[in-house]
Amino acid sequence: MRSGVISFFIEPEIVSDAATRIQSKKGIRIRVAKAVRNVRIAALELTTMKAKTALNRAPKSYSAAVVIRRAVRSDLTAVNDIYNHYVWHSTCTYQEEPETTASRRQWFGQHGAKHPVVVAEVNDEVVGWGSLSAYHPRSAYRRTVENSVYVHHQHHRRGVGSLLLNDLIVRARGLGHHAIIAGIDAEQAASVALHDRFGFQKVGQFRQVGFKFGRWLDVIYLELVL
Ligand SMILES: CC(C)(COP(=O)(O)OP(=O)(O)OC[C@H]1O[C@@H](n2cnc3c(N)ncnc32)[C@H](O)[C@@H]1OP(=O)(O)O)[C@@H](O)C(=O)NCCC(=O)NCCS
Repeated sequence: MRSGVISFFIEPEIVSDAATRIQSKKGIRIRVAKAVRNVRIAALELTTMKAKTALNRAPKSYSAAVVIRRAVRSDLTAVNDIYNHYVWHSTCTYQEEPETTASRRQWFGQHGAKHPVVVAEVNDEVVGWGSLSAYHPRSAYRRTVENSVYVHHQHHRRGVGSLLLNDLIVRARGLGHHAIIAGIDAEQAASVALHDRFGFQKVGQFRQVGFKFGRWLDVIYLELVL
């Protein structure tokens, strides 16, 4: 790690949560970094040692900083473009028809303060996004969320997915959530490996519950208890 500083950023709303645990965990550093778009931002905590390894790769992969921030409505076209590539080409989503702009806007509107949508930006270009969604509408599930992470297919293996997932985990803790669930198609080795790196554990597998591209698909469920 260069000079003990991680050169990517989070918003101030989750800094205080990270700061409360700064004394209790090794490998956590936090500092106020600089202002981007009038938002004070700060470098952040590292969730696990495995995550630390992944996160350390990120700043070296781009000449500019990767900024992780809350999404705004003007990001939704980029969010949808990134996602629809996988609708057409991958089993990582079981959606078979492209997400429309209208449905994406509706989805975004349903993500309130407890269920953030974030984007990763490099040189003002959105290269990935992540979200925490309500896991189940029944009220006793209210502190359980399901996460999504999608990185533009031309930006893989540069640490963006790790930055997004780390950010979501930190936010989930800060928001008082207790568990994160990831439902992942069993063929998606990259996604399984990414979640494993952040401490998610496999809790189950449903066999042949999806059918896409002419074949039956299994879904693996991973969980991180916060
Ligand atoms: C899964 C995904 C988000 C990973 O994003 P990424 O930016 O490439 O991830 P990172 O560069 O941070 O990689 C972190 C680690 O994940 C694992 N990983 C990532 N891509 C991998 C691949 N193709 N094969 C195996 N492991 C992989 C590795 O352990 C990697 O660390 P390493 O590069 O040091 O070996 C990305 O591949 C993606 O958007 N896939 C399609 C959407 C998807 O499956 N989303 C998850 C469902 S919610």
